[in-house]
Amino acid sequence: MKSAKPYIEKNKQRFIDELVELLKIPSISADSAYKKNVLNTAEAVKNQLEKAGCDKVEICETPGYPIVYGEKMIDEKLPTILVYGHYDVQPPDPLDLWNSPPFEPVIKKTELHPEGAIFARGSCDDKGQMYMHVKALEYMTQTDQLPCNVKFMIEGEEEVGSSSLEWFVSRNREKLSNDVILISDTGMIAPDTPSITTGLRGLSYVEVEVTGPNRDLHSGLYGGAVANPINILTKMIASLHDDDNHITIPGFYDDVENLSKEERAKMAEAPFNLENYEKSIGINSVYGEKGYSTNERNSIRPTLDVNGIWGGYIGEGAKTVIASSAFAKISMRLVPNQDWRKITELFKNHFESIAPKGVTVKVKPHHGGQAYVTPIDSLGYKAAEKAYEETFGKTPIPQRSGGSIPIVALFEKELNSKTILMGFGLDSDAIHSPNEHFGIWNYLKGIETIPQFYHFFTELSK
Ligand code: BES
Ligand code: MN
Ligand code: MN
Repeated sequence: MKSAKPYIEKNKQRFIDELVELLKIPSISADSAYKKNVLNTAEAVKNQLEKAGCDKVEICETPGYPIVYGEKMIDEKLPTILVYGHYDVQPPDPLDLWNSPPFEPVIKKTELHPEGAIFARGSCDDKGQMYMHVKALEYMTQTDQLPCNVKFMIEGEEEVGSSSLEWFVSRNREKLSNDVILISDTGMIAPDTPSITTGLRGLSYVEVEVTGPNRDLHSGLYGGAVANPINILTKMIASLHDDDNHITIPGFYDDVENLSKEERAKMAEAPFNLENYEKSIGINSVYGEKGYSTNERNSIRPTLDVNGIWGGYIGEGAKTVIASSAFAKISMRLVPNQDWRKITELFKNHFESIAPKGVTVKVKPHHGGQAYVTPIDSLGYKAAEKAYEETFGKTPIPQRSGGSIPIVALFEKELNSKTILMGFGLDSDAIHSPNEHFGIWNYLKGIETIPQFYHFFTELSK
């Protein structure tokens, strides 16, 4: 496969402009007010897949948001790559922390992106990274170099748990059959330190409600004599970790995969600067489970975090009140062998059991998914390694990530194929946060590297 560099150089501005157009549509899957925009985004992705050279593109209806499916089959004897990505984005709030509106993309230089980065919700997660694959296909078809078959499956519900994807995949096994799945929805260590994501954590997401009195009460008249749901909720949450920051839910660690000394030593070889890490997010010290390094804490160890907590009076000034109920949203990141349904059950039983008299507790499970680890001796991994060597001039470092893409474990189960996670974002790209951005250099480097994966995967499959 010839280097895509000259083609990219020639079409660079158009590649950026097209992504900018896509980023202008607020495809927020979590908020039904944006339904029309989410559907329009699916339509836009469909059009671009057609333009890039797919022979067959369709919008597949599901119980939720549609899946855009596209394919270019050149020879059934050749391998087939299935590309997965998502066209939905996270809600942009808090809006006032954005330096420019989240759906009006602007390009600005940053310390880590001296060639400029596109600031917009979804620029890195995942429209920008998904679109690299569309442009890589364009390159291969326009220059007559597509070496194998390709299928695209771009969904619109990833950020809310991919609930329709299982439905779709189990009904379309034949249509989606493939030799390897390729996803760009993760990150890499640094522009001069390419890495391939070899692990994702699982997830159990729950919402809890603690209810006390049947109405909000005067905090003077009743204070001290009734259980205050907010006091109780925070106390219950605090008890979920001990002094060493271990999670206290009985049985929580039972199935946790323990890495060998050798594996942990190998992990520790990846370049990491604690001081820069702390500085980059403005903390004076890291914090976490005793006995584990920062990189272990955020990848190979399970966690429990409150994602949101509310109740009572939060308006201007003071209001003396004991709220009738208090709420929290809690995520648990899981590691290989932990079953998310079992963990959800353990959480529910434990949380209900620690509720004191005077309140009632409800636990509402949201969604979840299994963790994933991919071997580094598979054909797909080797092809990816060679692709990076070709375009970065360096062997990529295998690295387990702390994030979750629950559908990856499901793909393995339903489609029986391995997933290769070729991410080009940086941790500092602020995905899910205000001022999300994606480096132009990273975007173009992705477009350059992907065709090489197609090439090496086809070669190694012979
Ligand atoms: N692309 C992310 C996941 C990710 C990012 C993995 C960076 C590794 C590195 C994905 O869109 C995401 O945000 N997933 C959710 C889970 C989902 C069930 C809502 C997550 O990890 O919180
Ligand atoms: Mn994503
Ligand atoms: Mn995301």
